[in-house]
Amino acid sequence: MLEIQNLHKSFGQEKVLEGLNITVNKGEFLSILGPSGCGKSTLIHMIAGLESVSGGKILMKDREVKAPGTDRILVFQSGALFPWLNVKDNIAFGLSNVKADKKSQDRLGDGKSKKSKKDKFSDEEKEERVEELMKKVHLYRFRDKFPHQLSGGMKQRVSIARSLAMDPEVLLMDEPFSALDEQTKMVLHEELQRIWMDTKKTIVFVTHNIREAVKLSDRVLVMGSQPGKIIKDIPIPYAHPRKVTDPNLVEMEKVIMESLKDEIEKRRKEEFGDGYPVEASGVFSGPDYTMGDGI
Ligand SMILES: Nc1ncnc2c1ncn2[C@@H]1O[C@H](COP(=O)(O)OP(=O)(O)OP(=O)(O)O)[C@@H](O)[C@H]1O
Ligand SMILES: [Mg+2]
Repeated sequence: MLEIQNLHKSFGQEKVLEGLNITVNKGEFLSILGPSGCGKSTLIHMIAGLESVSGGKILMKDREVKAPGTDRILVFQSGALFPWLNVKDNIAFGLSNVKADKKSQDRLGDGKSKKSKKDKFSDEEKEERVEELMKKVHLYRFRDKFPHQLSGGMKQRVSIARSLAMDPEVLLMDEPFSALDEQTKMVLHEELQRIWMDTKKTIVFVTHNIREAVKLSDRVLVMGSQPGKIIKDIPIPYAHPRKVTDPNLVEMEKVIMESLKDEIEKRRKEEFGDGYPVEASGVFSGPDYTMGDGI
């Protein structure tokens, strides 16, 4: 479905990503886990076609990605809703841009787009899709509300529904729940698992939260930093939906923590020098392992 071959990215002199090779299979839930600044957002923006490639290739169904397209929709951390549109219209917004010929090369940005003009969905289908999605994310009652009248979790659900409305081949998610409180995050984890199981979408999910990655994914790619590269590819072979309390998942979290020890040590030395004890960093403590700013 999605193939990343020897991908490199530099910003000026700074080498951000080096030699990434990733294959994403159809219907897979793949998480990309890594510490802050390792290049996760840069990678997912490149897949979305929002950021240029410095070397290597990104292929979507054997065609090179060169621009954004409705086959790869990115859900941002902030939700990025239109404040002047209500829930229903926010979800419906992208639909008018989805063309019938999804196989045409225009979505890959090679300039041959003008040929396919027909909308993928009729007006009736659009209406139906939006209604169905509002129900799927439990926002039907709130369809006339505007973003400022919604909680953070509701806004993120609108954002997910809006992305699904466009019927992308791949849903790209960049830390979509990181700004939410724990309870809301847990509810949305359940919802995302359910939506994924219902729709069988391929999802590429960026996070620095180990527990979240283990709970949601079929496979976790662990990234190292400076420059960003894949250091581990870990399958999570347990049935969905999952509960965080499942002992198998707790064990997987430990395996991932173990695979990160060298990376954490590297960061610790860079930031604190040799004299700083690992225990004092608190990296291994707490119920919700993250690879965030604390490392
Ligand atoms: N447009 C840009 N111009 C220059 N440097 C950039 C740009 N975007 C990102 N970088 C740099 O690339 C590196 C990786 O950034 P990126 O945002 O991809 O990291 P991240 O893994 O998503 O981090 P976080 O977990 O904090 O979101 C950082 O050093 C950042 O400063
Ligand atoms: Mg980021």
